[in-house]
Amino acid sequence: MNDTRGRPLCDLRISVTDRCNFRCTYCMPKEVFGRDFHFLPPGEILRFEEIARLARIFAGLGVRKVRLTGGEPLLRRDLTSLIAMLAEIEGIKDLTLTTNGSLLANMAPALKSAGLHRVSVSLDSLDDAVFRAMNDVDFPVQRVLDGIDAAGAAGLGPIKINVVVKRGVNEDSIVPLAAHFRGSGHIVRFIEFMDVGSTNGWRLDDVVSASEIAHAIDAVHPLEPLESNYRGEVANRYRYKDGSGEIGIIASVTQPFCGDCTRARISSEGLLYTCLFASQGRDLRALLRGGANDADIVRFIAGIWDAREDRYSELRTAETARAPKVEMSHIGG
Ligand code: GTP
Ligand code: 5AD
Ligand code: SF4
Ligand code: SF4
Repeated sequence: MNDTRGRPLCDLRISVTDRCNFRCTYCMPKEVFGRDFHFLPPGEILRFEEIARLARIFAGLGVRKVRLTGGEPLLRRDLTSLIAMLAEIEGIKDLTLTTNGSLLANMAPALKSAGLHRVSVSLDSLDDAVFRAMNDVDFPVQRVLDGIDAAGAAGLGPIKINVVVKRGVNEDSIVPLAAHFRGSGHIVRFIEFMDVGSTNGWRLDDVVSASEIAHAIDAVHPLEPLESNYRGEVANRYRYKDGSGEIGIIASVTQPFCGDCTRARISSEGLLYTCLFASQGRDLRALLRGGANDADIVRFIAGIWDAREDRYSELRTAETARAPKVEMSHIGG
């Protein structure tokens, strides 16, 4: 099944909650996501049976990789039951999860035994003061590091460590993060700050480019480029010349990768998005709860994928950056 630009549907990213215990300034700024913010009530969120049914249908359409996201997915009650259901679906070769790591120290063994293959952990700085300011809930960095260790010990590695880099905020954390995880078997991936959503006050001036990031690391720990692991991989890969591991840089602003974008996203209330920067999703929940059979749902999804034209990052302008878009915390990045 290919879209209008010849891109197959290979990855499915499922958000299991729109809530998060962090308020990262680039994702859920406190001024917007404060006490009065209306998160989805439980009845509007897809139940595990509904998620598993959709995942089975998507696997039938060619999806091989499923990633659970949030908000913070580990806040969803009894998540391990969902993981166990997804782990049984034929065709899904890679089952993974993106987390802020705050609850990982306790949960890692249970996630592994439920059938999760690996995790990606967001971590923007090793400097405790910088990290606390970026998560904006005063969460200490050590607990995330403990979570990463627990995940490694539970067999959920190699772990990807996702670092969003924002000019004037955590540029100085780039080299220490690379150095800390060099030789650990984990892979740090630096992400250019993106104009997702419409609440994070994005400006091009705040983006530290992939080439700046690569040069900063290369100057201290020499790097050389590596080939992609698979078509559509979002990170540019590099290895340390001394053999002590690899890093990735996700350059969605300065080097867009829409040409190979094979990802679909489902929000926690069951809306299907074919681009991270879309303003509107398509209602799968209405079908699920309206008594549609699997063939109806397949037709609905295939129709949307057939007509898909998305390539937001290739077309980005100052105007589109300001346009209303779905929030990252709603579809999980
Ligand atoms: P692996 O399977 O481990 O390679 O992970 P992944 O490539 O699926 O990466 P992950 O989900 O960890 O994505 C890392 C970050 O890259 C996300 O949080 C986003 O910030 C960014 N990203 C991922 N997919 C897309 C995409 O389709 N478009 C854009 N613009 N950014 C993306
Ligand atoms: N730009 C780039 N990455 C972002 N993330 C959240 N908001 C942004 C943004 N504005 C990343 C987080 C996490 C993943 C869920 O998305 O760091 O790794
Ligand atoms: Fe929460 Fe992740 Fe967004 Fe931070 S980036 S507020 S941890 S969902
Ligand atoms: Fe895919 Fe949209 Fe990201 Fe381009 S901007 S890579 S189409 S999600």
